[in-house]
Amino acid sequence: MLLVTGGAGFIGTNFVLQQAAQTAEPIVVLDKLTYAANPANLAALRGKAGFELEPGDIGDRALVAALLERYQPRAIVHFAAESHVDRSIAESDAFVRTNVLGTHVLLEEARRYWSGLGSASPAQKAFRFLHVSTDEVFGSLGAEDPAFHERSPYAPNSPYSASKAASDHLVRAWFHTYGLPTIITNCSNNYGPYQFPEKLIPLTIHRALAGAPIPVYGDGSNVRDWLHVSDHCSALVRVLDQSPPGESWVIGGNAERRNLDLVQTLCSVLDRLRPRGAGARYAELITFVTDRPGHDQRYAIDATRLREELGWTPSWSFTDGLEQTVRWYLDHPEWMADVTSGRYREWIDQQYGARA
Ligand code: NAD
Ligand code: DAU
Repeated sequence: MLLVTGGAGFIGTNFVLQQAAQTAEPIVVLDKLTYAANPANLAALRGKAGFELEPGDIGDRALVAALLERYQPRAIVHFAAESHVDRSIAESDAFVRTNVLGTHVLLEEARRYWSGLGSASPAQKAFRFLHVSTDEVFGSLGAEDPAFHERSPYAPNSPYSASKAASDHLVRAWFHTYGLPTIITNCSNNYGPYQFPEKLIPLTIHRALAGAPIPVYGDGSNVRDWLHVSDHCSALVRVLDQSPPGESWVIGGNAERRNLDLVQTLCSVLDRLRPRGAGARYAELITFVTDRPGHDQRYAIDATRLREELGWTPSWSFTDGLEQTVRWYLDHPEWMADVTSGRYREWIDQQYGARA
């Protein structure tokens, strides 16, 4: 049994669907169902034996304790977080509450549960707390700097990345002080199906299709290293199954792109798959807007260790992954309409009421 926090968000959804397709292991999702979640993503699993969605907050100590007691997971896979940098700049409270204090509650309850499994019992030895973190904790690279690796120093620059760095430090401390068998992963920018359209790729697709201006921050020269979400999920499974406790791993796609180049590529994929008509091009919608405060210039990941020690490599090329992603959003207009219209929020209120 896996306890997956944040399993109704972007990466969590992909992880849970992938696991359910590839294994018979039961999964319980603990998710607060914030604006970023869409429980309809997991609709295909509802009612299936071995799958439960528990709406709730990772900061709710009594709830976390009760779930651990009831489900007796072999691992916690911790995705739950406030994840959007721009939102953290506008209002940081929820980032500290969930990413820092919520992770603390989870660690403390995991420790109590793990201790109770019995000293050196097989269940205790097998238990893992996998903390899913970000490359943003390492700060910003210059054009010629070597890529981030497992020993890169922490230098977070945004309220979001500072809150994730704080949570990484807590996780690390719970391993060193209490022996809780934790693992940390720091991954680069993910893309793929089910991503909330506040993030660059789905936002660009959504706005392009709506004929709305496509905002590019600053001069568009910032660089991100893109990884298909299914490759991130396969790396997490690899780490969960093979990493010794106390380790951290960087995960990346070896696909650095300037934002402007990426947006232009997306526009040309859309031109091919869904022409605007009358000879118009989506790139005509690109609009340069005021830069993000403190905008990190470049992220890049050197995932050599993950390849050499655990045998993981990404399976998607960036070109194919981007095309698959664009096709997914084109094929699921109702998904985009729901998450942008608030219809899914109405469904959550109706379905889960006060608990969500
Ligand atoms: P997301 O915003 O799409 O999903 C986050 C999920 O967490 C949502 O379902 C939300 O309802 C849930 N959640 C938020 N607060 C909660 C709380 N207090 N209790 C329980 N659930 C709560 O995020 P994502 O993009 O899927 O990212 C998942 C994790 O991966 C995050 O920890 C993020 O820092 C990390 N990460 C993301 C990326 C990326 O490119 N998206 C890259 C590297 C690491
Ligand atoms: O690197 C991993 C991180 O990637 C994750 O930890 C975060 O949760 C995830 O949100 C993502 O952070 P970014 O800030 O890199 O992603 P975002 O999609 O918000 O922005 C990507 C780049 O595009 C960034 O340089 C800012 C720029 N941008 C973003 C938006 C939303 C624009 O130019 N225009 C936009 O409208």
